[in-house]
Amino acid sequence: MEECRLIYKSLSVDEIPSNEDLKSLTETSAERNKNLGISGLLILSGNQFLQVLEGPVGAVNELFIKISKDPRHHKIELINYEYITQRHFEEWNMRLVDLWDLEGKTRTFLSRKYPVKDQVIQIHHQLHVVYSLLLDAKLFCINKPWE
Ligand SMILES: Cc1cc2nc3c(=O)[nH]c(=O)nc-3n(C[C@H](O)[C@H](O)[C@H](O)COP(=O)(O)O)c2cc1C
Repeated sequence: MEECRLIYKSLSVDEIPSNEDLKSLTETSAERNKNLGISGLLILSGNQFLQVLEGPVGAVNELFIKISKDPRHHKIELINYEYITQRHFEEWNMRLVDLWDLEGKTRTFLSRKYPVKDQVIQIHHQLHVVYSLLLDAKLFCINKPWE
């Protein structure tokens, strides 16, 4: 079955999405993604979302159509779409990484590496910067398998 990787960014309509909303979004998405054979990561930085989805082409495409109509976010920008033979984010069906919640040392590391505005790490539009941030986030998650 042909697989793809899709990366997009968007802005939450709520300036600061509530922990409850995020928890329910993560839990339902993880369940649905699992059934669809989709894996990925969702980064939140301030009100900015960055999501990578990997899985069967048809399932990812249909999911992205749904996600792009979701009223909880707007200004959705597709950053990359490619056919893949290997997944890079297969560890989780859906894992949320809220950059604001990371420990001080980790936030300082990221703040030196990525653009920051009003203390919030900015989601870049350039693919190599976005990849780097996604891979950093993945490493933080792998190093904290208990969370
Ligand atoms: C930032 C963001 C990321 C989302 N990611 C997923 C996801 O990975 N999987 C998923 O099933 N739904 C995700 N959703 C929710 C979908 O937009 C949609 O609500 C869900 O698929 C249910 O759609 P349905 O009720 O039409 O079946 C996300 C929503 C937002 C705002």
